[in-house]
Amino acid sequence: MTDRPLALITGASKGIGRAVADSLAGTHDLLLGGRDEEALASLAAGLPSARPWAVELTDERALAAAVADIDRLDVLVHSAGISRLGPLTEVTAADWRESYELNVVAVVELTRLLLPALRAAEGHVVLINSGSGIKANPKWGPYAASKFALRAYADVLRAEEEPNGLRVTSVHPGRTATGMQKAVRDFEGGDYVPEKYMRPESVAAVVKAAVDTPRDAHVHEIVIRQPNR
Ligand SMILES: NC(=O)c1ccc[n+]([C@@H]2O[C@H](COP(=O)([O-])OP(=O)(O)OC[C@H]3O[C@@H](n4cnc5c(N)ncnc54)[C@H](OP(=O)(O)O)[C@@H]3O)[C@@H](O)[C@H]2O)c1
Repeated sequence: MTDRPLALITGASKGIGRAVADSLAGTHDLLLGGRDEEALASLAAGLPSARPWAVELTDERALAAAVADIDRLDVLVHSAGISRLGPLTEVTAADWRESYELNVVAVVELTRLLLPALRAAEGHVVLINSGSGIKANPKWGPYAASKFALRAYADVLRAEEEPNGLRVTSVHPGRTATGMQKAVRDFEGGDYVPEKYMRPESVAAVVKAAVDTPRDAHVHEIVIRQPNR
């Protein structure tokens, strides 16, 4: 690690989080979140200054242990997430709990644990939300509700912590070409054609822009969608 600013990215092993890691690698030292230590180590080896940060985010004790030696953090990007889909008659209590555990509770708890480190750096929290955090559609119940909750959480965090120098940005992407989107298309019974969706790098570019925004400005929310052609 160098003396550059430090960024922790959850969900950095795949999809949008991985693209965010690539986009910040030129300016930040990185902690790469995910669950597969080996995959994270090989990803870290290809970046200028990055370390694996392997933790099951829904395991409260593991989470507390994993942040114990972080005393200063400039950027925290929450990208890890799951989508449990289905009509309300079919989604189970477990689907709701798993959605809230990862998409909301783990974000809230990780941020809480890291608040002293974020305040020390007057840091920036970026939450990868979704179009589903703005408009809830049929068969997207647990996912949309968890993302609405995540948006509310971000608004409260911003209001409480802006006086302490923190910035908080919710990013709401539309469909993006990742493993999650492939699973969504499987659920919908349609083909998965990655070229039809935004590239994760395009979402990462707006995350990087929010982080790079001069300190006289604070980007609250970004909505980014594929063009309707
Ligand atoms: N793709 C889209 O169309 C789309 C659209 C709007 C918003 N989003 C949001 O964007 C974010 C990233 O999605 P994505 O499409 O990049 O998903 P993805 O390709 O499925 O990647 C999910 C990431 O989350 C990590 N993760 C999952 N469960 C975890 C757990 N319990 N503990 C620790 N890490 C865990 C995975 O790590 P492992 O390597 O350990 O599995 C992986 O790195 C999500 O919050 C999603 O809701 C996605």
